[in-house]
Amino acid sequence: MDVSVIGTGRIGSAVGTALARAGHRVTFGSRRPDQAVHDAAPTVPLPVALAASPVVVIAIPAGGVTALVEEHAEALDGKLVVDAANNVGSPVVNNAEPIRRLAPSARYARAFNSLGVECLLDPMFDGTPADMFFACGPDDRAILEELIDAVGLRPVYVGEDPVVVDGVLRLWLALAMGQGWGRQLAFRTVTRPG
Ligand SMILES: NC(=O)c1ccc[n+]([C@@H]2O[C@H](COP(=O)([O-])OP(=O)(O)OC[C@H]3O[C@@H](n4cnc5c(N)ncnc54)[C@H](OP(=O)(O)O)[C@@H]3O)[C@@H](O)[C@H]2O)c1
Repeated sequence: MDVSVIGTGRIGSAVGTALARAGHRVTFGSRRPDQAVHDAAPTVPLPVALAASPVVVIAIPAGGVTALVEEHAEALDGKLVVDAANNVGSPVVNNAEPIRRLAPSARYARAFNSLGVECLLDPMFDGTPADMFFACGPDDRAILEELIDAVGLRPVYVGEDPVVVDGVLRLWLALAMGQGWGRQLAFRTVTRPG
């Protein structure tokens, strides 16, 4: 799959590198492409990266998302936008509203935001992948499952509401930070017949 990853910091690098290693054609987008060189995939200016792929992962600080989408709304037409950016401390943690408002022809997904980057870099716990909860339209579910699987996590679809995924982030923050469990913390869903 062709995937552009906007942001070459911790989350963008972790997601983009894992996707590239799994065989996806990744393009990193950066405001400073010369200083954000990656071994795993080419790093290009933001407009070039946004034009390069039908799937765009946004992995920049949430404070920059509205301006990014506003400036590049046309480039996002018809694309699947995967929002990994967190407005931590705000009542609404995701960026669905500005993305949907400013790029109404894009499709929205929420993923890669609810665990610390450590769990994306090393998704195995006791030999089994941790869960990555995600939200998107039903038609995009298989795409997200493929991407999350490529990162090494087990995809768990929660439906279309990004707020459900943000609830997982709140739980992660409450335990990892608030209760002192630390950042090497992830979740696994268990079930049984009945
Ligand atoms: N770190 C985590 O454990 C974690 C976990 C889940 C979700 N997240 C979310 O993922 C996002 C990125 O976090 P991070 O930890 O990867 O941050 P980071 O390491 O600071 O990297 C941020 C990246 O965004 C770019 N950037 C900053 N402001 C920008 C703007 N206005 N427009 C375009 N690009 C901009 C930076 O590029 P420059 O080099 O040009 O400054 C840098 O590549 C945040 O929204 C965060 O909430 C983080």
